[in-house]
Amino acid sequence: MIQQIQNLQIQVLAELPNLTNEEALIAYRNDILGKAGELTTILKWLKDLTPEERGTVGKAANETRDIITEAFEAERKRIKKDLIAKRLETEQEDVTVPFARERGSLHPITLVQREVEDTFIRMGFDIYDAMEMTTEYLNFDAVNVPKTHPARDMQDTFWLEGSGHVLATQTSCMQNLIMRNKSTPIRAIIPGRVFRNEDVDATHDNTFYQVEGIVIDKWIGIGHLKFTITTMLSDIFWKEVTIRMRPGYFPFVEPGVEVDFSCPFCDGVGCKICKHSGWIEFMGAGLIHPNVIREGWLDPEVYSGFAFGFGLNRLVMIRYGIPDMRYFMSPDVRFLKQF
Ligand code: DAH
Repeated sequence: MIQQIQNLQIQVLAELPNLTNEEALIAYRNDILGKAGELTTILKWLKDLTPEERGTVGKAANETRDIITEAFEAERKRIKKDLIAKRLETEQEDVTVPFARERGSLHPITLVQREVEDTFIRMGFDIYDAMEMTTEYLNFDAVNVPKTHPARDMQDTFWLEGSGHVLATQTSCMQNLIMRNKSTPIRAIIPGRVFRNEDVDATHDNTFYQVEGIVIDKWIGIGHLKFTITTMLSDIFWKEVTIRMRPGYFPFVEPGVEVDFSCPFCDGVGCKICKHSGWIEFMGAGLIHPNVIREGWLDPEVYSGFAFGFGLNRLVMIRYGIPDMRYFMSPDVRFLKQF
């Protein structure tokens, strides 16, 4: 029996170098060491031997098993190494072949948002990200939008059913959080993505970007608002821009204003972009309503402030002459590549 074991060992060690791939090696290993393998079968006979025989034969069998197992492992390593060496030799890449790998680019909204943030940072503002999901309270009640206001209408707001949550319809929903959590003086802008249940066309989308601004301190007036917005727009358009204000109604401000700026393309003379009026309608703003200040846990007898909110999409469209808002959400690389 010992002879048989030794023969098997010799046979296996001789056969191994002939195997050239891993599959053949595994198959052969199974033939020898597997459940019904040759060596396994021999080991099963051990129990029929006398105790003395079992001692010597068992020892020989175990030794052989160890040797064979190790040989298989060494062989596996050799095959792997050969394979890698072969691939290195045959699959070499010619690094001198010219190739063009396309690089992505930043979305135009991101580009202009960064510029806006830069100007405000230079004016000492903090930047906060707006939440995309918020509560009915923050989106409406906290900014003095009465329960009966049409903005709450099912048509405009995406309600998250039964939760008291909504998709933010305006970045103004961040005003209250900032007032309650930051100490005065407050100077902040809050860019964010907002959602409205609107029909989509060239100038409306159901998902768009706004930038909210709030400043709260003692003795804040309309002059501060005017300076801030004039500075930002002049920065963005790289030229002196003037603004004008018309009365406008927004529940969170009193007085409320609509802000227009002088057309930077024709300097107010009149062109296609400003529809020959010399002015571009830009945003809503005003002095923060005392109710809103009170709701933010501040005393409106002591503190006053201004707030504004503008559509970033619109600013980007004017800045780059983009004719249709739907491009922003489209994955069309011909559009995106231009920036
Ligand atoms: N939240 C308004 C909107 O979405 C924009 C706005 C107007 C924001 C006046 C303000 C503001 O902070 O004072 O139409």
